[in-house]
Amino acid sequence: LISQTLRNNLVVPSWHEFCQRIKTIFEKCKTVSTGKVATYIPQLARQDPNQWGVSICTVDGQRVSFGSARTPFCFQSVSKAFTYAIVASEIGADAVHSYVGQEPSGRLFNDICLDGSGKPHNPMVNSGAIIVSTLLKSGMDMADRFDHVLTEYKKLAGGEYIGFNNATFLSERDTADRNFALSYYMKEYECFPKGVTSVRDTLDFYFQLCSLETNCESASVMAATLANGGVCPLTGEKCLDNRPCRDVLSLMYSCGMYDYSGQFSFHVGLPAKSGVSGAMIVVVPNLMGICLWSPPLDKMGNTVRGVEFCKELIETFNFHNY
Ligand code: DON
Repeated sequence: LISQTLRNNLVVPSWHEFCQRIKTIFEKCKTVSTGKVATYIPQLARQDPNQWGVSICTVDGQRVSFGSARTPFCFQSVSKAFTYAIVASEIGADAVHSYVGQEPSGRLFNDICLDGSGKPHNPMVNSGAIIVSTLLKSGMDMADRFDHVLTEYKKLAGGEYIGFNNATFLSERDTADRNFALSYYMKEYECFPKGVTSVRDTLDFYFQLCSLETNCESASVMAATLANGGVCPLTGEKCLDNRPCRDVLSLMYSCGMYDYSGQFSFHVGLPAKSGVSGAMIVVVPNLMGICLWSPPLDKMGNTVRGVEFCKELIETFNFHNY
């Protein structure tokens, strides 16, 4: 208890004051009215633009939330970070990176392009994430792979809400020409691991990962697990190996915010990953995980309120890496 108290005093001078300041930032960002809800997946287009939720979970399990923190939403591309960390824990970073690089692509998240050695640029863009998803329990059948990934996500979330939105999955699969084109391109260039033959099955699994559901509270615990070296702050369970946990934060730092990643790391200086549902996780290493959710997106595809929140956070607290 004494050491906990000392630690809290060192890290967060007063929890109550900290929460008040977060609330002020939350309220300020609520007034932001720019951005557009993603329309390219019909189910996402129906999201309410007024939804705005913020949740924080510290590495010692203190929690605070504001707004729509328990409303479910899909992970979309936020899943790319967690799936990468899970796969790299299971088969090792070297095995994963024999198929995918670590360099920001400088292109749109679904661009049809490969790096100089014929691999997807990184696991945070569609090409890389599609390849990484094929490495997840590749020997199992589709149903077992889905069960497995659900179990692993739940562990990261300390048993809190992880669901699946079938309507989004079906709707995305029906509007996925770009991801099919990208995958056939990668097939032509022999990017897939040996044994992967069906583009249809591969993409089904990738769309299922994008359609996994969470809420701000639950995803903040997952982000806190990343902040805590892979140990879930609620359960104490070691869910990820140290190295993939460090690696995923490096990748989020350089490639997590689409083509805004350079500016985000410059201004905010924290690893983050966003998705087209308006979800976003931010990690303050060794301190806390944050989940922000608001559907209106800027031109780059990032949640407008979420990015604004991060800029305000950095003005208020000394969390920038440098
Ligand atoms: O592949 C797609 O189009 C989406 N389901 C993933 C979208 C997303 O959030 C993009 N991020 N990089």
